[in-house]
Amino acid sequence: MAIFMKWHPASPSSPIFSRKFLVATVVLIIFIVYVSNLGKMMSVTDDKAYIQYRTGMGKTEKFSTTPDTCQPKEHVLFLKTHKTGSSTITNILNRYGDFHNLTFALPQDGFFNFFWPLSFESTFAADLKGKTPNIFSNHARWNRKSMTELMGPNAVFITILRNPVSQFESTFSYMEFAQLLGMTASKNPLATFFVDPTNTLAKLSDLSESGSVFPYLNLLKNGQFFDLGLEKEKYFTDEKIKEAINEINESFPLVLLMEYFDESLILLARELCWDNRDVVYFKLNQRKSSDANTNISNELAHKIRQWNRADMLLYDYFNRTFWKKVEKFGNMFWINVHSLKNYNKMLEEECLLPGEYFAKA
Ligand SMILES: *[C@@H]1O[C@H](CO)[C@@H](O)[C@H](O)[C@H]1NC(C)=O
Ligand SMILES: *[C@@H]1O[C@H](CO)[C@@H](O)[C@H](O)[C@H]1NC(C)=O
Ligand SMILES: *[C@@H]1O[C@H](CO)[C@@H](O)[C@H](O)[C@H]1NC(C)=O
Ligand SMILES: *[C@@H]1O[C@H](CO)[C@@H](O)[C@H](O)[C@H]1NC(C)=O
Repeated sequence: MAIFMKWHPASPSSPIFSRKFLVATVVLIIFIVYVSNLGKMMSVTDDKAYIQYRTGMGKTEKFSTTPDTCQPKEHVLFLKTHKTGSSTITNILNRYGDFHNLTFALPQDGFFNFFWPLSFESTFAADLKGKTPNIFSNHARWNRKSMTELMGPNAVFITILRNPVSQFESTFSYMEFAQLLGMTASKNPLATFFVDPTNTLAKLSDLSESGSVFPYLNLLKNGQFFDLGLEKEKYFTDEKIKEAINEINESFPLVLLMEYFDESLILLARELCWDNRDVVYFKLNQRKSSDANTNISNELAHKIRQWNRADMLLYDYFNRTFWKKVEKFGNMFWINVHSLKNYNKMLEEECLLPGEYFAKA
């Protein structure tokens, strides 16, 4: 504004014309700023209404992946696993719950998860004064009995898995295991770790028991199965692993896969009888592509798979059930995936300025 005031008196000779001109200019500028920010302001307050507004697909047009007869499910527990894209799913559930005024199970005051890595107990959640929560989506270690107790018998249990090779690499980098293991001098700490992983882990566990607590050490072998409740001594027998997989299969009607994210979300929308627009997303807590170590040799990948054998069996099992579900969905499946991709793109173009929105590690 200071620039205007200085520049202006020097221009037109009539003071009345100049004042009108000045007011009109200021109004015009305010209007332009307002209009150019309209999209951003709306998307902040309400993604869903905004998308409906942008696409003209509001109440009049139903675009659902589910038969008209089903009722949207509103009791959902998402067992959040580590480094699997789970923050994005949590965000989708939070948005849905917020939009529909649902009740959330939340960690106790001052905590950001349900006392992970302890096996979940219903008392770990903040008191809801007898109300049954609708949405549960923070980190907690799987415990079927106490989670069912908290969520009620109608709750749908969902979780997500990732290829153990990339999940392990991502965990190793994100949890800064190289620092913890004193391997920062190494050019490739992951490879250094695999020179003698058993011994390294044993040493760290001793240290941990002697007083320094590293909860994330639980993720340094079969971390996804740890989140899903398997005890460490059971990692080593195929029979125990199979039993645990069967229990998960019975408890979770749907297991999502990070590698097939959009496909997963369409299956999720169908499972919960939600609309495709309920599952649009931006990726959260993802590394910049330049920070990701995608150069894992075949030999190293093989070592990672061996080391995380229980997680491999888990992943392979649910990769099979996943594609069976896709097959059962029928030929509308890929049309739905395509429509979700379009919604995501639209949301991105409208709401994000160009650039990267990724986490550091
Ligand atoms: C949620 O609550 C707000 C405020 O009380 C209300 O305006 C809105 O209509 C409610 N939304 C739904 C879906 O019930
Ligand atoms: C997995 O669970 C589904 C649904 O409960 C069930 O139909 C199927 O038989 C189970 N598979 C195995 C191998 O137990
Ligand atoms: C990937 O790793 C191989 C073997 O460790 C190395 O020779 C190659 O230069 C690496 N490539 C990149 C792009 O870092
Ligand atoms: C998952 O299963 C599909 C279909 O069988 C297969 O092509 C793919 O390689 C599997 N993914 C992983 C990461 O193993």
